[in-house]
Order: sequence, then structure tokens, then C-alpha cells
Amino acid sequence: METITSIVEMKRAAGSLRREGRTIALVPTMGALHEGHLSLIREADARADIVVVSVFVNPTQFGPLEDFDTYKRDLERDISLAQEAGCDIIFAPGVDDMYPEGSATRVCVSGLTEKLCGAFRPGHFDGVCTVVAKLLNIVRPHLAVFGQKDGQQAAVVERMVSDLDMGVEILRSKTVRESDGLAMSSRNANLSEIERREATVLYRSLEHAVSRYGAGERSVERVVSEMRDMIDAGETTEIQYVAAVDAKTLEDVDELKRGVMLALAVFVGKTRLIDNVIIGA
Ligand code: PAJ
Repeated sequence: METITSIVEMKRAAGSLRREGRTIALVPTMGALHEGHLSLIREADARADIVVVSVFVNPTQFGPLEDFDTYKRDLERDISLAQEAGCDIIFAPGVDDMYPEGSATRVCVSGLTEKLCGAFRPGHFDGVCTVVAKLLNIVRPHLAVFGQKDGQQAAVVERMVSDLDMGVEILRSKTVRESDGLAMSSRNANLSEIERREATVLYRSLEHAVSRYGAGERSVERVVSEMRDMIDAGETTEIQYVAAVDAKTLEDVDELKRGVMLALAVFVGKTRLIDNVIIGA
């Protein structure tokens, strides 16, 4: 496995692989790799000849009060985990390389980015879209793999790639969970013992919604209100949003049906966690 830190070198390596006729899959990450990331790498490995994993903690997608400075960085660990999962090239550029002085362009997807997480994290998705567009332009993969865990991010990236004719296939890979259902996230490590226990209510409330749907319930209003009650019962939990939207367009819906994404963001203590499920997925 190779580690590349320069953009020029990454372009050169990807260009020559493409000329040799190899298919390339990109898995964009911010490092701090866990089983969720590794499942994306395995999925990429099963579908392409070469897997490039980018590791870049992207400053433009963090708000001023968010955890950019304290985000866990351990490239050596990421390299060995990625390699085991089937990664061929780690691309780990520096911030000055990605955003040199004078850089002034931002990619902004309107509409989809203004709701759910976007409503609470202004500018976040502009940062995500800008860095993902840059990574796609540098690596020019045939396929890029994203996790359903960040369902809004996946929908926004799909929109961007389609709107800008970027000619790359986007694959959404399923959410990997701990044995008690908590979606894997690098931020889970910040939870205290009681918070970790109470954090299981996120997925339990989503499962509750799915089982209510299975029992014939169709009212979003009723189900969301039951989910909110479950989450509010915790001592350390504070809801940011609980919503039901179309998984592709992110339009609000008031009836549960296949393809509806139930999504939530909840503070557990000081840690903000997100999760979602798609009905019928
Ligand atoms: P990061 O949070 O490191 O996540 C990288 C990828 O892993 C994303 O596609 C995310 O959805 C996926 N992922 C995270 N946890 C997962 C889980 N439990 N199960 C399945 N997939 C999971 O998302 C980002 O980085 C950044 O915004 C990025 C796209 C790299 C742009 O900077």
C-alpha cells in the first residue's frame, strides 16, 4: 500500500492507473477510522481494482464552535486499518495543499442543505461539497462510496454529482452499528458511561418507528412524537431534530412509506450524534 500526501502525485498515480484500464474507487474520510469506514473500504474493494482512501480533516466543514482542533488524528493507525480492509492508496493531503492562499471557490448545493443538519450547521455542507468535489477532481474515481449513516450528506453529494455532471457513481453503504444498535462514530468515544448507555435510545427510537410502520401506522406526526418522548426520557439527551423526509430529495413527508428516511440529531451530554433509517431499506 502506498501513502500519498501531494495532490500532484495523487493525480499522476490515478491518471496512470486509469490509463492502464484499472477501475478506481474513492472512499473519502476524515480518518479516526472505525468499523463503519472499514465496511466502506471493503465494499469499494469488492467493486473496483484500486481503492483510494482519503484521510483529510476538512476545516471548511467545521463551524467555529465545533471540534476541528480536537478531532482525533492518528494517520499511522488509519493506514494500517485501511490496508487490512483492502485499501491500495491512502491520500492524506495537508490543509495548505487543499486550500492554498487565494483559494476562493465554494460548491454550494441549495435546498437540500438547508434542512436537517444543515439548519443547525450553517456552511457545513458547502465545506463538504467543496472538499468532495476537489477529491473527485484529484482522484477521478469511477466510484465513490459514502455511508448511509450520514444520509443527508449522501443525498447532497448525489445531487452535486448529478447537477455538475461529474460522471462518478455514488454508492451508499449501510450503517454499521455497535452490538446494542448505536451507530459507529468517532464521536462515540467522547461519551461518559451514562451517556453511552443513554445514546442507545437513538437507534431504539428509530426501530420503534419502523416497527410502528410495520404494524400499520402511517402518521409521521404520531410516530415522531413517540420518538421524541422516548429520547426526552433520558437525563443526558437533548433533541436537535427528529424528522421524516424523502431519502433522496429530503423533502418533508407526513405519511410513512417505503423510501422515507427517519433522521435525528441528538445531543448526548456535549456530544452531538446523528442517525437515521430508511423505511423498507
Ligand atoms: P467521516 O465522518 O470520516 O466519514 C467518512 C465516511 O464514512 C462517510 O461516508 C460516512 O457516512 C461513513 N461512515 C461513518 N460512520 C459510519 C457507520 N457507522 N456506518 C457506515 N458508514 C459510516 O463524512 C465525512 O467523514 C466527511 O464529511 C467527508 C465525506 C470525508 C468530507 O470531508
